[in-house]
Amino acid sequence: MISSRTWTKEQLRELIETHLSGVKFIVVSNREPHMHRYGEGGDLECIETTGGLATALRPIMAATKGTWIAHGAGNADRDTADEHGRLAVPPGNPSYTLRRVWLTPEQEEGYYYGFANEGLWPLCHIAFKRPVFRLANWETYQEVNRIFAQAVIEEAAGERAIIFIQDYHFCLLPRMLKEMGGDKLIVAQFWHIPWPNREMFRTCPWGPELVDGLLGNDLLGFHIRNHCQNFFETVDNTLEAMVDREGWHITRGGHVTSVRPFPISIDFLANEALAMSPEVTAAMEKWRRKLRLGDRLLGVGIERLDYTKGIPERLRALDCFIETHPEWREKFTFVQIAAPSRSHLPEYQAVEDEIEKLVEHVNWRWGRHGWLPVMFIKKQHGPVDMLALHRLCRLFIVNSLHDGMNLVAKEFAASRTDNDGVLILSKFTGASRELDTALGVNPFSIHDTAQAIHQALTMEPEERQRRMKSMREKVAANNVYRWAANILTHLMKLDIPETTVNE
Ligand code: G6P
Repeated sequence: MISSRTWTKEQLRELIETHLSGVKFIVVSNREPHMHRYGEGGDLECIETTGGLATALRPIMAATKGTWIAHGAGNADRDTADEHGRLAVPPGNPSYTLRRVWLTPEQEEGYYYGFANEGLWPLCHIAFKRPVFRLANWETYQEVNRIFAQAVIEEAAGERAIIFIQDYHFCLLPRMLKEMGGDKLIVAQFWHIPWPNREMFRTCPWGPELVDGLLGNDLLGFHIRNHCQNFFETVDNTLEAMVDREGWHITRGGHVTSVRPFPISIDFLANEALAMSPEVTAAMEKWRRKLRLGDRLLGVGIERLDYTKGIPERLRALDCFIETHPEWREKFTFVQIAAPSRSHLPEYQAVEDEIEKLVEHVNWRWGRHGWLPVMFIKKQHGPVDMLALHRLCRLFIVNSLHDGMNLVAKEFAASRTDNDGVLILSKFTGASRELDTALGVNPFSIHDTAQAIHQALTMEPEERQRRMKSMREKVAANNVYRWAANILTHLMKLDIPETTVNE
């Protein structure tokens, strides 16, 4: 579809300016890219939010200069936006508009914590957490999707626009938009998490409504083919529609939805440039001191504190590794960074407790002479700190139980300009399809993961280089601009009445 050259921010901008002039570009997501809040001392701070979605979309928006509609969730968000909820971002270098949507605490509870994260999140991830579906939350989910639909219609202001919806928070939005916005809107959605198999999906009491909502899209993207195939089967099993697997589309009520895989990625060059900056070098020194690293080799894990990420399994694997490889005692330290996430939900509190207990257990069992095998830091860190850890470590572990893509794995590869460092990567991540020279593990196998830790620590430099080089080439070629360009090019080719670009 797109040539094999590396895509840049400028080329994406050119593509948009040449082919989509006069068409507004509007992104919708629950999570906003920049959140304002009052810190403990009452100081106003602006933070970059965590998670793969915001990481991937921020550079795209800077290139497209469009409008990003999202929930204003920070306690200083209202004070920093105008009366329509709009502000220019990113701070310091404003290049696009953020339109914040205001929700009441009850709406946030029912739609975000409730239906989206207590229901759809576990429904789509095989992490053996039962989804919880409550009628009141479903009603709030519908209500909030309508609130966002209204905001989109306001921002599109009757003009031709591409609406690019993100994720599982907005299954109903595409159909609502098609009904409210008519032919002037091209509606696409990207699903950032896995799509479950049809048996699993049947457990959702409002499955047909969700699928019908999604089929309002002109284009629906998933990370990998397997998620598309699960979606085709789900549709076949859920409602009346014509599924054309070979043509990669579904027709319902005369409307065609194209369904395709688009593996998401990162801004490779920006990540690489930051990784080589003096700030990162200084942060590496800071970490060395903080971790009292000395000659020890370092292992690192960084993610949101989420039960899908396999952190307890990783700690058990570390325990098993130290037990079975006594020669590595006092010679290896592991640091686990976890950004607090959705901590209001009991399942998230439970995994946090479990992690804390396991860290204490491993350190109690093996710590000696001032050496602690594991350091657990529960805090969101900025990119400089994270990239410093990427560069400092010998091994990096991503052992998610199930993950749509996992961009942290790609960020690690981009940071290793020295072509060194070993990535241990769960076979149940979308990223493992591309990063096939990582050490693949089944995260449910403690033994397997412990073995991989040993293999990573003892791997010869030539092999580390060969594996890392191949991963870096893949991420460099398939960066986030190429992802966006693929989606936009696909949209331009769709036969959408009244919306053909550059007539
Ligand atoms: C995943 C989801 C995103 C979400 C992110 C962070 O990447 O696919 O939709 O934004 O996690 O989670 P949060 O609930 O904090 O937005």
